[in-house]
Amino acid sequence: MKHLLSTGDLSLSNAIRILDTAEEMSAVGEREVKKLPALRGRTVVNLFFEDSTRTRISFEAAAKRLSADVINFAAKGSSVSKGESLKDTAQTLSAMGADAVVIRHWASGAPHRLAATDWIDAAVINAGDGTHEHPTQALLDAFTMRRHWARLGGTGSEGTDLKGMRVAIAGDVLHSRVARSNVWLLRTLGAEVTLVAPPTLLPVGVDKWPCSVSYDLDQTLANGVDAVMMLRVQGERMNASFFPSTREYSRRWGFDDNRLRALDDLGMTDTIIMHPGPMNRGLEISAAAADSPRSTVLAQVRNGVSVRMAALYLLLSGDTREPAAHRAPAY
Ligand code: CP
Repeated sequence: MKHLLSTGDLSLSNAIRILDTAEEMSAVGEREVKKLPALRGRTVVNLFFEDSTRTRISFEAAAKRLSADVINFAAKGSSVSKGESLKDTAQTLSAMGADAVVIRHWASGAPHRLAATDWIDAAVINAGDGTHEHPTQALLDAFTMRRHWARLGGTGSEGTDLKGMRVAIAGDVLHSRVARSNVWLLRTLGAEVTLVAPPTLLPVGVDKWPCSVSYDLDQTLANGVDAVMMLRVQGERMNASFFPSTREYSRRWGFDDNRLRALDDLGMTDTIIMHPGPMNRGLEISAAAADSPRSTVLAQVRNGVSVRMAALYLLLSGDTREPAAHRAPAY
């Protein structure tokens, strides 16, 4: 692995390697151990052309806990506002000695462009590109589910760690890079995924994705799920024609208090409620659901540091071997 751009091209063995390494890193990620010297002398650049709270801070914490130097770049307030191109920005950072560039960009494919050119000689990590992918979010989601599934005794064999786990991903799938990265990765790890959304918030071609599709959240829950992941409604990426009224959306596709009670009524005591954040409380998820004992929202944030430590460590430590013959299925 030279770059981490997509979960679609992440082999099962490399996915498992990242998750296993994150488990080893978790003593540091969760602050039982303060720091590791593993990346001393290396420089990680956070190159953010779009806003972020969790991802940027998490990558910064991960790099620092591995003793790397961190340079934070936000497009706002930089020479990007004077028209500087991605190429010139990247080359400027490269000249400052970047070993890894963590890039978030509003344009789908920007990290792939960076990785495919000779503009820089650094590992590129996709921290979210447009509506395309957000691989480290999917990895931290899988890490969270894997711990939950293992606690329930559901761990699969031969590395297919989420084999048999039923996951519903509900909401604004159309604009969600989190949904895309999760579908590819969860499938690779053996989970059964159902996407639930209004018809106007599903992408063209979703019928070819390796998952089921439903418009009915109540029916999906009633069929039985082990994890339900609510997606943020991305108002900044849509116009009114995409969207049912806020009230209708919340009633039909939001994880509201009624659905929280329904999990108890259905006897689904172990089902977890996930959200990548930031949340629109009262729209796609109620405050009671977000703050309930079923919610893994903060665990996901915590796990994000360990997963990003693992990604940085594996990319920068020079261990780029493909560990086994497994390859992810081609979608
Ligand atoms: N989940 C996520 O990507 O959050 P941020 O936009 O705050 O980084």
